[in-house]
Amino acid sequence: MSRPRGVYEDPTAAASIDPDGSADGLHVAIIMDGNGRWAKERGLPRALGHREGVAALRRTVEGAAALGISRLTVFGFSTENWRRPPREVSELMGLLKAYFRSDIDRLERDGVRVRIVGRRTGLDADILDIVERAERRTAANHRFVLQVAFNYGGQADIVDAARAFADQVERGIARPEDLTEGLFESLLSTAPAPAPDLIIRTSGEQRLSNFLLWECAYAELVFQEVYWPDYGPDHLRAALDEFGRRERRYGAVSDVPNAEDNILAAG
Ligand code: IPE
Ligand code: IPE
Ligand code: MG
Repeated sequence: MSRPRGVYEDPTAAASIDPDGSADGLHVAIIMDGNGRWAKERGLPRALGHREGVAALRRTVEGAAALGISRLTVFGFSTENWRRPPREVSELMGLLKAYFRSDIDRLERDGVRVRIVGRRTGLDADILDIVERAERRTAANHRFVLQVAFNYGGQADIVDAARAFADQVERGIARPEDLTEGLFESLLSTAPAPAPDLIIRTSGEQRLSNFLLWECAYAELVFQEVYWPDYGPDHLRAALDEFGRRERRYGAVSDVPNAEDNILAAG
């Protein structure tokens, strides 16, 4: 059975760490944070922190696949990151383009399927072109999925999904009462990916900063005290170890009812 996308269908079918330690089938999401502080500590411009961040992304994608993770979603640029100085914004846009230009051949060869999630409106035509070409070229790959959240904001994505549903109602192809959690999440830009099992944030900050607000409902959160440019497979392994120690309950209870509960239930 394929794993459900969200928590509303069959949460008990969600992936977990196998006894052998492999993270088969896991969806891991990462808020790659701390590029600026990494650079500042070295007396370097923030742009160099972002460049080193791309190297960390490369290492982490390779490490994730080797650890048996099947899907990785990384936060590359938020709808709020437009508030940064124009030079930094254009540096980040340039890095996305450069990453796909330099890495797409290898990603394609390695069986990686690339997806971009977030708002496409507002992105320059050349970025859209590179991104859409990368998606088309890797569409048939299925060993590993790399989702890059770019011009992504959890609130914006929820608003866009609400608008899409309102539009269906207006056109008479849906009724308000048709809306369910499952239908709503199918309208998010992250659909049809399953919800993340684990969300990691680097740099020590302990907030989501508008990342995967709907999808995080039952994700485990792990915060790591490492700036993103220093990140790599060993840190990912440590986050998975922590994840493996968590007990996911989805609002239910973990133990089968004991005899006493049965007696009480029977009255
Ligand atoms: C993360 O690093 C990269 C993006 C947000 C694009 P930051 O640039 O946020 O680095 P800090 O948080 O200022 O250290
Ligand atoms: C979140 O980090 C966005 C990305 C990592 C792309 P920010 O650095 O933008 O978040 P805040 O401003 O510290 O909350
Ligand atoms: Mg930051």
